Amino acid sequence: MSIPWDSVSDAVERVFGLHLREGRLPDLKRALKGAAAELGHPDSSACAQLLLCRDLDATSTEVLASHLTIGETYFFRDSDAFTALSTRILPELIAARRRAGDLRLRIWSAACCTGEETYSVAILLNQLLPDIANWQVTLLGTDVNPRFLRKASEGVYGQWSFRTVAEDVRERYFRRLAGGRYALLPAIRRMATFQVMNLVDESTQTNVHHGAFDLILCRNVLMYFTHAQATKVVGNLHRALHHDGWLAVAPCEASQSLFNRFQPVHCNGAIFYRKNRLPPQSELRPPVAGSSSVRAVRSAAVANSPLCKDSPAPALQRPPASVGPTTKSPDAGLTAQALAAHARELADQRRMSEALTWCDRWIDAEKLDPDAHYLRGMILAENGDVPAACAAFERSLFIAPDGVMASLALAGLERDRGREGRAARLYRNILTMLDPLPPDAGIEHAEGVTARQLAALVRDLLKGKQA
Ligand SMILES: C[S@@+](CC[C@H](N)C(=O)[O-])C[C@H]1O[C@@H](n2cnc3c(N)ncnc32)[C@H](O)[C@@H]1O
Repeated sequence: MSIPWDSVSDAVERVFGLHLREGRLPDLKRALKGAAAELGHPDSSACAQLLLCRDLDATSTEVLASHLTIGETYFFRDSDAFTALSTRILPELIAARRRAGDLRLRIWSAACCTGEETYSVAILLNQLLPDIANWQVTLLGTDVNPRFLRKASEGVYGQWSFRTVAEDVRERYFRRLAGGRYALLPAIRRMATFQVMNLVDESTQTNVHHGAFDLILCRNVLMYFTHAQATKVVGNLHRALHHDGWLAVAPCEASQSLFNRFQPVHCNGAIFYRKNRLPPQSELRPPVAGSSSVRAVRSAAVANSPLCKDSPAPALQRPPASVGPTTKSPDAGLTAQALAAHARELADQRRMSEALTWCDRWIDAEKLDPDAHYLRGMILAENGDVPAACAAFERSLFIAPDGVMASLALAGLERDRGREGRAARLYRNILTMLDPLPPDAGIEHAEGVTARQLAALVRDLLKGKQA
């Protein structure tokens, strides 16, 4: 049967809000093929029929949702936004509630994926509320994909989820498990509850109480919706906010027309929307030095993601070796650059085994590219294959001994597997590499983290180790 793809795209928009046509049609076809295989149908046409006939039961909805959605997230994603949350927005909300004698905070992480965003807020609240036991905190994480939510409820994460998180934060709030995985401390895990919720579903929209939330994070999801669906969802979020509530979206989702009922507030590179229309906000206070719990150590995969960029491109110490446009791969004539981009995109979407395949193809095309081996190390580390990850980072450093982030990643893994001496040597090497750089110099793959910030982090790590 030939599939009327335009009508299927319409149905996907109606049911899930997602804009999957034109350039994104291949993603839709791939998703339906995967869903059909999982539901035991011979090909995509059966899934297309389900959508077209509005004949979706709970199982087919879950399977379709899990194939259509993109599960890209990590702790403290967008350090500017989390700095603003920890230094301004949450402290202001907390102070207002204290003044009113109403010790309640109600926060909704809408489209929370596997929970990293929700738990990042839980960690901030834990840091900001010394008397948290006296507070009634509602921290709700919702998503259309129940599989993501099951993972969120477990609270167990691989290294990839910590790609921008300083080790000390990870050590403080997580317990190390075998295989390079980390379990969130129960006290933090218990702060959040998770619930399946389709943001474009009419019944869901009417179930959210008016004015129920002080803060809503709805980040990196509106960009996948059609404009019409995004407009509807934003209207519902507006209704769901308390009169002085805040809405956080991703920087690339900021839009004057979409958020015209909100007051835009610029917070050190991040943009938030406030419900009430106050006189123009004055410039925000700068963040309190050293108060952010997030010390960004961003990965190559993030830095080059074709998805929404969280922050401006960092200064690079040297151009990535792989981007020579004339470098041809033996792989179907693809350039090494194209292979690299695809490998990074898959890694960003946490499709790790596919990412590894493409990364290996990139390496086949460009054997001496330190960035390719670095990405390979990150993927293997996420998969819990620590020895292979270490070998990949070693290879990256053999080719480019000045690879600061490869050294840092390798040091962390060596420390995790008890090779403290080797880790300490690597940390000291990093300090030697950083020493001659201007304090504000950007570091390749560190997405905006400066030489000074990184040196401070490494000194902390060394101190922690020596204590
Ligand atoms: C890229 S993730 C963003 C996760 C997190 N908010 C962040 O910024 O890191 C997008 C999430 O939106 C969810 N999503 C997609 N369509 C949705 C819908 N109609 N309703 C609710 N969630 C949806 C996906 O399942 C996925 O978990």
